[in-house]
Amino acid sequence: MRSLATAAPSSWKGHIMTITRVFSGYQPTGRLTLGNLLGSIRPAVALQDRAECLYAVVDLHALTVQHDPAALRARTIEAATLLRACGLDRSIGYLQSQVTAHAELAYLLECTAHVGELQRMIQYKQKAGQARVNRVSLLTYPVLMAADILVHRTDLVPVGDDQRQHLELTRDLAVRFNRSYGEVFTVPDGVHPPLAARVMDLAEPTVKMSKSTTSDAGVIHLLDPPEQIRAAVARAVTDSEGQVRYDPDTKPGVSNLLAILSACTGVAPDQVAPSSYRALKAEVAEAVVEMLRPIQDRYRHLAADPADTERFLVDGAARAAELAAPVLAAAQDAIGLVPAGRGLPVYGGVGN
Ligand code: AMP
Ligand code: TRP
Repeated sequence: MRSLATAAPSSWKGHIMTITRVFSGYQPTGRLTLGNLLGSIRPAVALQDRAECLYAVVDLHALTVQHDPAALRARTIEAATLLRACGLDRSIGYLQSQVTAHAELAYLLECTAHVGELQRMIQYKQKAGQARVNRVSLLTYPVLMAADILVHRTDLVPVGDDQRQHLELTRDLAVRFNRSYGEVFTVPDGVHPPLAARVMDLAEPTVKMSKSTTSDAGVIHLLDPPEQIRAAVARAVTDSEGQVRYDPDTKPGVSNLLAILSACTGVAPDQVAPSSYRALKAEVAEAVVEMLRPIQDRYRHLAADPADTERFLVDGAARAAELAAPVLAAAQDAIGLVPAGRGLPVYGGVGN
């Protein structure tokens, strides 16, 4: 445990000052976007020197909606390489399916969660409404996410705004399990960036930028070439007022561009006020292109040596499995199972 008293950003004030663990997850359902970078990856990178950080490409989560096996594998490898290129190279990184404790703990948490609370999840309602038939795993998805977090006794979870409800459920499940069976889990907190915690789609600024939308017109992927980024920003939907000011409720398009610019440059949105929408878009495009340039360079370098990323992932999975095993065993023990390898006599007889 290391003290964070000197380096804690304002969003942590008032809570945890000794942090042991950070966990974040990224779905390989599509290609990583600017939303992923600003909402979660960058905050996770920033935590690396102050805590023990783990992250996973959560491939099991990508099976909750219709998928193509070959595309999933390709996206998984791309995401794992790209996350390293983004700077998540001083963390323990791995593929979720290679650490079986995630799925095993998810089952125990399914025996803790209630159907009603899962049916109330906003993301479930949105996604379930889109398809004719839904996989059972779409409903239980947040329980697997809770297992990802709880299996590492995670203190902090860097996530975008869209995951607040899932994180709240994770906390509820941890508390419920602990109350019912004894203190096994740490109750985690979210870390949300002050700006760009919800990057919106450039073409439809009232919905979040997502890697799995049907139209890519308003999405910036981290590996998009500069000219494609410039074109997407130039096409971004604004409004007819013509005034550059930050007001997400009435001016979602312009405010989204200001938030992106501000997140890229570190200057507050009311301090970055180009005179026209055209000038704003030009500044946003250049700021994003410049921010992504070193990431894309590193990606190309890493992608040229897949064996190196494979080693990174194999080592990561081994270390993550080692950390997760005692927590899974504690949960199994608490709930009344007999964890393997502990010997039977310690449990004594029954009926007295
Ligand atoms: P996902 O793409 O759903 O696997 O999300 C991975 C991480 O990126 C999660 O922490 C999300 O909350 C975050 N994220 C995804 N989309 C956005 C967005 N448009 N703005 C901010 N954060 C996002
Ligand atoms: N559900 C998250 C999302 O869609 C991805 C995720 C899965 C995750 N497990 C996690 C994020 C654990 C943080 C921690 O964005």
